[in-house]
Amino acid sequence: MFITFDGTEGGGKTTQINALCQRLQQKNIPFIQTREPGGTALGEQIRHWLLSQAMCSDTELLLIFAARAEHIETVIKPALAKGEWVICDRFTDASYAYQGGGRGLDFARIQKLADWVQGDFQPHLTFILDIPVELGLQRAKKRGLPDKFEQETLAFFQRARQVYLDLAKQNPQRCRLIDGCRAESDIRRQIFDALCAHDAPCQFGHAFGGGGDSFLSE
Ligand code: TMP
Repeated sequence: MFITFDGTEGGGKTTQINALCQRLQQKNIPFIQTREPGGTALGEQIRHWLLSQAMCSDTELLLIFAARAEHIETVIKPALAKGEWVICDRFTDASYAYQGGGRGLDFARIQKLADWVQGDFQPHLTFILDIPVELGLQRAKKRGLPDKFEQETLAFFQRARQVYLDLAKQNPQRCRLIDGCRAESDIRRQIFDALCAHDAPCQFGHAFGGGGDSFLSE
């Protein structure tokens, strides 16, 4: 099962990813926790450049997809082939939102790179944690010094947020739009419920030795 979490800054992805991984661990379900950009030694170096260095938008997009190609081929697909769950902090939706919406790059161009690097390969489920941009940035500020993206304008993030909302609407099978303003425990429940209800190729219920409900119990 390949699960991704996405959304603009401060939506609570990290908290929810940690909660899910903790639950998988409790249930002895093999998984890896990873992130984009990053997830490989090379990808983490690329991440460092992306988050700290000014560059033109095309360079940014190409580096993100270079890191993604490495990540998919050397980490994500091998883990899935072993039957492990892959829990990934951000994926291609972020490229549409940040590089497409935020930077204004042509969506068709991003789509071409996605086709090249991914083909038909997609997450089984994507949780988009949605939060008003101002509130999210306030939350993100509390985490310390802002990285290159976190220094972008409100308008940049408003465009990115709109793309996430559009993606959720256009991909109802894969995407679950979650209100990031709700209590953490409510969001966690919503995510676990969605995982139980999901008719995933890996047979979610089966992975728990019968009914997905067992996933919800502590
Ligand atoms: P993170 O801080 O949530 O881990 O994400 C790092 C930053 O990278 C975040 O501000 C969004 C940005 N990003 C993109 O601009 N495009 C992408 O495709 C990805 C995966 C992340």
